Amino acid sequence: MSAQPVSTQVVLTDSATNKSVNLPVLRGSVGPAAIDIGKLQKETGMFTYDPGFMSTASCKSAITYIDGDAGVLLYRGYPIEQLAKQSTFLETSYLLVNGELPNAQQFSDFEHLVTHHSMMHEGLKTFLHGFHYDAHPMAMLCGTIGSLAAFYHDNLDIEDADQRKMAAVRLIAKIPTIAAACYRYTIGWPIRYPRNNLEYCTRFLHMMFEVPSEPLHLPAVAAKALDLLFILHADHEQNASTSTVRMVGSTGANPYACVAAGIAALWGPAHGGANEAVLKMLDEIGSADQVGKAVERAKDKNSGFRLMGFGHRVYKNFDPRATIIREMCYQVLNDLGVHDPLLEVALKLEEAALKDPYFIERKLYPNVDFYSGLIYKALKIPKEMFTVMFAIARTSGWVAHWLEQHLTADTKIGRPRQIYTGPITREYTPISKR
Ligand code: SDX
Repeated sequence: MSAQPVSTQVVLTDSATNKSVNLPVLRGSVGPAAIDIGKLQKETGMFTYDPGFMSTASCKSAITYIDGDAGVLLYRGYPIEQLAKQSTFLETSYLLVNGELPNAQQFSDFEHLVTHHSMMHEGLKTFLHGFHYDAHPMAMLCGTIGSLAAFYHDNLDIEDADQRKMAAVRLIAKIPTIAAACYRYTIGWPIRYPRNNLEYCTRFLHMMFEVPSEPLHLPAVAAKALDLLFILHADHEQNASTSTVRMVGSTGANPYACVAAGIAALWGPAHGGANEAVLKMLDEIGSADQVGKAVERAKDKNSGFRLMGFGHRVYKNFDPRATIIREMCYQVLNDLGVHDPLLEVALKLEEAALKDPYFIERKLYPNVDFYSGLIYKALKIPKEMFTVMFAIARTSGWVAHWLEQHLTADTKIGRPRQIYTGPITREYTPISKR
């Protein structure tokens, strides 16, 4: 196949006035080219219109690359399959934040820093006790992370590179502690402090499940499975929550406010909230013989029902993360001796949907959220905590993008325009005349 012509500009012509404008074409290291429309409004008086940003690149980034047609996902150039097999979540977090894999000393320093910043301020316990005991953990996490700006208020100079890096470390270090504390509060258990002798995921599981009365016996597969899930959820270029973090970051807001905004965006069932919604959907379907009805419902526009965990804005092929999680699901359930009938429902649902023309035509495949909930469930993590798990992992991606944004020369405050459809100028009438 001949190489694609490397266009350096495109010409847009307005058929009404026959006026043309030349717009430069930008290229990254790989992936689609982009038309730089920065001067479009000034030269033509017109905007572009792209709700949901289906064809819009909002920034330049060197962190993650996705090829949706080929089902490729790279973190700083490393294929997700290789990182899933050979790396750890903390090492992957270092890679996302710093751009390179650490050597032994760099990793040891990073791990020491994260470990020794994993405690949360005692004042946060009082803050947590202000919540209703059975509040959703995502509501508590969003509020608590945002409140960190009230505990580190003397360290919020975002123009200071060291303070930016410290905030990133604090967020990666503290979010598991705070997440576990939110969970423990909802079940009335005392908060467990992070133990420095444990690695990141084991430490989190201890904070989640250890009770003062007896030692916790964790199956080896638990921390390994969690670490892999965290690697797979760590970043995903300009998804809704990361774009939210960047939007808030573009105003100069502090990193805790940015990540709290990202958590809020992630909670939606169309985004990170899908993993909890998948389990609810599988529960609702109940058994493999009800799968056909669910598929028909999902195809009926009037039903308002969608197959949660299916479809993706970018992947029009298998989500590579879903493939890895699917394989891991079998291993974890087998190693834990768990027989979950919902796995059979999930497999049947996947098989039925992948054969159905409606899903085939729309290129709807299982995404990262389709199987992850079954593993969290096998690890005895309650479904209300599933999106919290996603937030723990994605914090590394969010802070990586927040840091990158501050080092990018053409970062401006995000301020999209609109097509106005409201009434045009009209005179005010006093109430006596209305
Ligand atoms: C994540 O962006 C990211 O990278 C996100 C993420 C990350 O790591 O950050 O990958 C994590 O959020 C994964 C997605 C989790 N969400 C879900 O599983 C919820 C169910 N999926 C959908 O709501 C939907 O597929 C989206 C939100 C994921 C994508 O929506 P799009 O790209 O806006 O697609 P669309 O809504 O325009 O749908 C296109 C067509 C429509 O039919 P037509 O109008 O063309 O006839 O596909 C249909 C939709 O009705 N469709 C579905 C469907 N998803 C899309 N029909 C049934 N079931 C579904 N799940």
